[in-house]
Amino acid sequence: MNVLVTGGAGYIGSHTALSLLEAGHDVVVLDNLCNASQESLRRVEEIADRSLTFIEGDIRDRACLDQLFNEHSIHAVIHFAGLKAVGESVEQPLAYYATNVAGTVTLCQAMQQAGVFRLVFSSSATVYGPDAPVPYQENMPRGRTANPYGTSKSMVEQILEDVVRSDQSWSVALLRYFNPIGAHPSGRLGEDPQGIPNNLMPYIAQVAVGRRESLTIFGNDYATTDGTCIRDYLHVMDLAEGHVSALDRLTLSGAHIYNLGTGQGLSVIQMVEAFERISECSIPYQFAPRREGDLDAFWADSNKADAELGWQARRGLDDMMADTWRWQRQNPNGYRTNINTTSEGTS
Ligand code: NAD
Ligand code: UFG
Repeated sequence: MNVLVTGGAGYIGSHTALSLLEAGHDVVVLDNLCNASQESLRRVEEIADRSLTFIEGDIRDRACLDQLFNEHSIHAVIHFAGLKAVGESVEQPLAYYATNVAGTVTLCQAMQQAGVFRLVFSSSATVYGPDAPVPYQENMPRGRTANPYGTSKSMVEQILEDVVRSDQSWSVALLRYFNPIGAHPSGRLGEDPQGIPNNLMPYIAQVAVGRRESLTIFGNDYATTDGTCIRDYLHVMDLAEGHVSALDRLTLSGAHIYNLGTGQGLSVIQMVEAFERISECSIPYQFAPRREGDLDAFWADSNKADAELGWQARRGLDDMMADTWRWQRQNPNGYRTNINTTSEGTS
C-alpha cells in the first residue's frame, strides 16, 4: 500500500514509518516540522535501507493536501499530526482545536475528494475520562475531558464516527494509545522533546544524561501502593506495529476502536527504579504536589486488538528502559548536534 503518514517526522510517526517500510509499504510523510526534525526521516531511510517521500506542509493547508493527493496515489492515511502538550493546550486552546480538530476535518475533506477512505487516527486513553473503571475497555463511553488536548481527541473521535455513519465508503481505526515510551533498538530513532519534557520517560532519560539535575515526581499521596500514579507504558515499536496491523483491518467499513497498551500498570517510582536498574544510573528525585488533571491509575484492556488485529505488546519493561537509555546515551541532544542547556532551561 502507498500510505500517507501525517506527522511522520515525530516520535511515534517516525517509528511507524519505519515499520511500514519494513512491512513492504510505500510511505509519503507530510509534516510541518513544528515539533520534529527531518533528521528522523533520514535515519528511518538508513535503517530500512529504503527511501520514503517527504513533503513539508501543513494538514490545515487544503491546497497542499489536494496537490499531495493529486500527485501521489494514496491508499490509506495514518494521521499523527497534531499538538500534544496538555499544559500548552490549556493556555492556547484555539491552536489545539485549529490543528487537532479543524486540521483533521480538512484532511478528511481532502481525502473524500481524492476518494481515499481508509484512515488510522491517533487517539488517546485520555478520552475515557476520570470516571471510567480500570482496565479501560473500548465499549465504555467517552468521558469528561480535563483539558483542550483531551477534548480535541474526543471531538475528533466523534467527528470520525459521524463521518463513517454518513458514508459506508469510510473505514477508520481509532487507536487509543496508552503511554508510549522507548526507542528503536538501534539507538538511532527516539523521542526528542523540545525544551523541558512534559512526559516522564524523556525527563528521566535527560536526568541520566546530565541535561536535568533531578526528576520532580508529581504527587506521592495517590491511592496506589507507593502513592505515585500508575500508567500503562508500552514500547513505541509495539505501538508502531499496531498501526501496521490496523491498516489490514481497514477493509471493513465503519469506525473501529482499539486500545493499544500492555494491560499492566506501573507506578512512577517503579519506572524510576526500572530505569536505574537497567541504565546503572542514579536518578535523584523529589516529590512535589500533584499535577493538575492527572488521574491516579489507569491501564488498558487490549484484548480486542489481540482478537481482531492479532496485535499484542511483545516488548517488556526492560526493553523499554534499555532502548530509551541507548537512544538518550547515543543522542544526548536528540537529533540536534549542539544545544545550550542553560538557554533551554534546566529544572
Ligand atoms: P510528535 O509531536 O512527536 O509528532 C507529531 C508530529 O506532527 C510532529 O512531527 C509535528 O511536527 C507534526 N505536526 C504538528 N502539527 C502539524 C500540522 N499542522 N501539519 C503537519 N504536521 C504537523 O508527537 P507524538 O508523540 O509522535 O504523537 C503523535 C500523535 O499521537 C499525536 O496526534 C498525539 O496527540 C497522539 N498521542 C500521543 C501520545 C504520546 O504519549 N506520545 C499519547 C496518545 C496520543
Ligand atoms: N510525571 C512526573 N514527573 C514528570 C513527568 C511526569 O511525576 O516530570 C508523572 C505524571 O504526574 C504521571 C506519570 O508521570 O503520573 C506519567 O506522566 P506522562 O506525562 O508521561 O503521561 P500522561 O499519562 O500524563 O499522558 C500521556 C500523554 C498524553 C496521553 C496520555 C494517555 O502525554 O498525551 O498519556 O495515556 F493522553
